Amino acid sequence: MKFFVDTANLDQIKEAFDLGVLDGVTTNPSLMAKEGITGQKKILDHYVKICEIADGPVSAEVISTDFKGIIKEGEKLADLHPNIVVKVPMIKDGVKALRYFSDNGIKTNCTLIFSAGQAILAAKAGATYLSPFIGRLDDTSWDGMELISQIVHIYNTHGYETEVLAASIRNPLHIVKCAEMGADVVTCPLNSILGLLNHPLTDIGLAKFLEDHKKANQ
Ligand code: G3P
Repeated sequence: MKFFVDTANLDQIKEAFDLGVLDGVTTNPSLMAKEGITGQKKILDHYVKICEIADGPVSAEVISTDFKGIIKEGEKLADLHPNIVVKVPMIKDGVKALRYFSDNGIKTNCTLIFSAGQAILAAKAGATYLSPFIGRLDDTSWDGMELISQIVHIYNTHGYETEVLAASIRNPLHIVKCAEMGADVVTCPLNSILGLLNHPLTDIGLAKFLEDHKKANQ
């Protein structure tokens, strides 16, 4: 399972890659706004900066909602750097755009997925990645993890090549569950990735080893 970091914060992206376990980055307009990145030029420049830090796919989201606008914006984003993946929302014109991009060799990430039906449509349209939002489903008392399991089953049954990129991860347990369910990728806040490190018995065990070593070597 690949690990992407879900942020537009350059320090966090660098920290995540320095860990040595990161495979890519996802962003969205909310994450860009959170970093204070506004205006087309600054936004495009920021994507290039992310690509220069990250050694792997970087999802950059379109904000157009009509076919022509999505294509124009997506092609501009894809021209920025070979690692750019154009993130397209699950809407009717978005599905048409997924097919266009797929036929023209541009990688895509279909975002805002909340149902298996949407996942089938995106795969049929040739999406490279599919982003089901686990945490936002859990927030509404639907089972986000159940959706991941259902989509993985459907894709495996029918041989769809679209990669399941579990998004809206909120904690380390989501990551572990996604691994169990067979998600291809998880995109996570840095804190959720770092949370995988934690176990009190590791801390207690390490303290004891160091103490014993110190006593024996006094
Ligand atoms: O990038 C899409 C997704 O990961 C958003 O997560 O936490 O805003 O639901 P969240």
